[in-house]
Amino acid sequence: MPQRYFLTTAIDYVNGRPHLGHAYEKILADVMVRHRRSLGDDVFFLTGVDEHGQKVQQSAQKAGLTSQAFCDQVSDQFRALWQRLGLSNDRFVRTTDPTHKTYVRDCLQKLHDKGEIYFKEHEGFYSARAEQFVTEKDQVDGKWPEIYGEVVQTKEPNYFFKLAAYQDWLRQYILDHPDFIFPAFRRNEVLAALENPIGDLCISRPKSRLEWGIPLPFAEDFVTYVWFDALINYVSFADPGLPTDRWPADVHLIGKDILIPAHAVYWPIMLKALGLELPRQLVVHGWWMNRGAKMSKSVGNVIDPEPYVETFGPDALRYFVMREMSLGQDADFTDDKFLQRYQSDLANDWGNLVQRSLSMIVRYRDGIVPTRPADILTPLDRDLESEATIVLFREAMEAKQIHIALQHLWAYLQQANQYVEQSAPWKLAKDPVLAPRLDVVLATLAEVVRRVAVLTASVLPHTSEKVYAMLNLPVTPESFRLSEAAYGSRLEGKPIQAPTPLFPRIEEEKKA
Ligand code: MSP
Repeated sequence: MPQRYFLTTAIDYVNGRPHLGHAYEKILADVMVRHRRSLGDDVFFLTGVDEHGQKVQQSAQKAGLTSQAFCDQVSDQFRALWQRLGLSNDRFVRTTDPTHKTYVRDCLQKLHDKGEIYFKEHEGFYSARAEQFVTEKDQVDGKWPEIYGEVVQTKEPNYFFKLAAYQDWLRQYILDHPDFIFPAFRRNEVLAALENPIGDLCISRPKSRLEWGIPLPFAEDFVTYVWFDALINYVSFADPGLPTDRWPADVHLIGKDILIPAHAVYWPIMLKALGLELPRQLVVHGWWMNRGAKMSKSVGNVIDPEPYVETFGPDALRYFVMREMSLGQDADFTDDKFLQRYQSDLANDWGNLVQRSLSMIVRYRDGIVPTRPADILTPLDRDLESEATIVLFREAMEAKQIHIALQHLWAYLQQANQYVEQSAPWKLAKDPVLAPRLDVVLATLAEVVRRVAVLTASVLPHTSEKVYAMLNLPVTPESFRLSEAAYGSRLEGKPIQAPTPLFPRIEEEKKA
């Protein structure tokens, strides 16, 4: 029975171009869903953009555009980059979409009718950068931390959602569901935060201050607080005729900065109050840092993924961020590390194995994969057939340890490269008596190349497709199922194409 697997990502603010932090999360999501598809699961992958709120309104003003025109422009940049990176999302959410707006208004009306929302005058501090009210408790050494940017004092009447009434329920829910938050240390942080009173949530902004939002259905001169609007994307877009079909999500993939309070406090309580099921798991990743500092638009130290994709190809960036970061931890992005991985892991270990294996089949066997005489196989040939790598790979993927899963695959690649050295086909080719041995080596290598293409397909989808094209194998939705990684003899007797380099050498000026 195929399992249903519904994964969502955070939806990115469109106050600027996509940066590496955004790209990482979406790539990670894509790798997770591609892996689930490779197991035969029925996947739904939702991502998109968060278009309302003060930040976006301010950026639009600065750009001299209407908020809508600005959102259209930036949303297109996100969508274009996601396409270039090969993201396989089933839907791309925009919170300015009319379906979403209607859904948000319906939720608000429902909560209002249930008595979950009340009106009161509120005096406090507001951070536009974090799009939230803050209190003196949030200060560090009497100062507002950098993440809040400029904090201003406001006094205004607003609508509030009765969050505090659910605090005990939420705490108990998290205690009863140990897998609800991953990794476990993040769960402890949430439980610690719930030791203090959470207060109620201000869910409106007067239009006099902020116009760019969804008007409240019961008070049209107020717009909806951007987080309340954005979180609802997970149900408003999951499928037409929602939420019965796809909901609940199996995974909400988010960064550590938006766990508390948005995803671990507001969202579960909103769902509970709306009578909807909770998502099965919040998977919380760390941050990409630039020389030890968090990459962020406001600080101005963001890394633009685009030049990396243009110079090295989408798979190089996908591989790097998956290989260098342990899910949940932070990691530092440097050009040196990127170039090192490109050269050594991609160009040498994987690219070169494909290049030399297929070239030798072209050179020594006219491009036809030879048949392997089973009676002359040595332990060296047999070792490469082992299922051990697949088991280790799958276990690591299930534990969300993608960097470890890749380490297992690269250990197998190293074994295959050593096999080429030890077998020395160029020597075998010189002696006609050794022809059967050369057949074994070349057929084994062809099949190793095919199985690595299958195993790496969730991380390097474009590369695997190229390898399949060189092997004259069709790419279908079933091609990269994990079951296809079993060692076989599918290629024996079949023609292949002359290879072209998968990860070409990059000239020095381009690297710079
Ligand atoms: N719009 C909200 C999310 C609403 S979800 C209903 C938001 N947007 S964001 O653009 O600021 O961030 C989007 C995602 O990118 C978040 O999960 C965030 O953690 C992630 N990243 C932003 N900067 C990052 C890094 N430097 N590194 C890794 N991911 C980070 O928050």
